[in-house]
Amino acid sequence: MKKIQCVVLGATGVVGQHFLRLLASHPLFQVAAVCASEGRIGQRLGDVNALIPEGIPAESADLRFSAMDAKSLASLKVQVAFSALPTEVAKEVEKDLAAAGIHIFSNAGAYRMDDRVPILIPEVNHPHLALAREQLQHSKGFIITNANCTTTGLALALLPILPFGIRKLVVASYQAISGAGYPGVPALDISGNVIPYIEGEESKVRKEVAKIFGCIQETTIEPMDWQVYAHCVRVPTLVGHLLSVHVEVENEPTLEQVQACFENYQPDRPVQGLPTAPVKPVVLLQEKNRPQPSRDVMLGDPVRAQGMTVAVGRLEVEKHVIRMIALSNNLIRGAAGGSVLNAELALREGLL
Ligand SMILES: NC(=O)c1ccc[n+]([C@@H]2O[C@H](COP(=O)([O-])OP(=O)(O)OC[C@H]3O[C@@H](n4cnc5c(N)ncnc54)[C@H](OP(=O)(O)O)[C@@H]3O)[C@@H](O)[C@H]2O)c1
Repeated sequence: MKKIQCVVLGATGVVGQHFLRLLASHPLFQVAAVCASEGRIGQRLGDVNALIPEGIPAESADLRFSAMDAKSLASLKVQVAFSALPTEVAKEVEKDLAAAGIHIFSNAGAYRMDDRVPILIPEVNHPHLALAREQLQHSKGFIITNANCTTTGLALALLPILPFGIRKLVVASYQAISGAGYPGVPALDISGNVIPYIEGEESKVRKEVAKIFGCIQETTIEPMDWQVYAHCVRVPTLVGHLLSVHVEVENEPTLEQVQACFENYQPDRPVQGLPTAPVKPVVLLQEKNRPQPSRDVMLGDPVRAQGMTVAVGRLEVEKHVIRMIALSNNLIRGAAGGSVLNAELALREGLL
């Protein structure tokens, strides 16, 4: 099969460089173009500052930065854009490229709460892809977004316990500094410190959870009515957002029943076997002191899906409350890997 030609928007950033890594030798997509801020146009990708240990993949190192407009990208036969742009830049660019027929898989927050745009996490809400199909009735291209990196880990950790009937969530996050991009949080603010506020993050968790778990009826999503309370805190870890989660459920389960739900959980068939889909999207760790960002942030099998599995531990049940600690990789499952998986699903479902 001929690979789909794509562009990485924001290719110099932390998420952008994970896109380049995940798309290297990808069986379905090929990076044909890269874009970043205007001053980069013409610069060789391989000459930019590597922000991730794997560096810039050799196969795309000789690409030169293009102008970020539909005409330039069309001349490179680009059909799909993976966006790692800041939200304010994404607002204009993603709309213009979609109107010109380039399908967008975005990490930016610009369109997440737009009624026409899905926040897609394939294992959680693959039927929401219907919104992208509907966009194609009015536009040549569609926009599909990822959830915020904190919301993604939370949503996947909740999946196995949905059958108990969730009523209320109380969440506290311990978020890594890479979540703020590059150069991110000043060293003098975060070294040996924690910062109990991340602008906009707590309301994103509340609103995005309601939309992601919402019921889709034809082309409208009815948001979930759970009560959601979140405190989001920046801590001096590098990668991995840890969450303390208390879930109030309708039916009073036993610990054994909840454990069995985690152990037996399988993703739905539309997601199984996609190249970046982990065989187990959620794993339950038994050790009392896990999950830990330094040990568990790259869980995921096969190799292409490393960093795509959410680890859950410290599972406890007390009457109607299930408590756990969850960990997700903010740069992979919560960002670049999540978008690549969304694109793989869109292709399998005939949208590309
Ligand atoms: N980091 C995470 O854990 C995470 C998780 C989920 C979602 N996100 C979202 O993903 C996006 C990227 O995040 P990041 O952490 O990778 O940020 P980052 O490291 O700051 O990278 C930002 C990228 O955007 C480019 N850019 C900035 N201004 C631009 C402009 N005016 N025109 C064109 N390109 C411009 C930068 O290019 P230059 O180098 O040329 O300036 C760089 O490539 C953001 O929307 C963020 O909220 C991040």
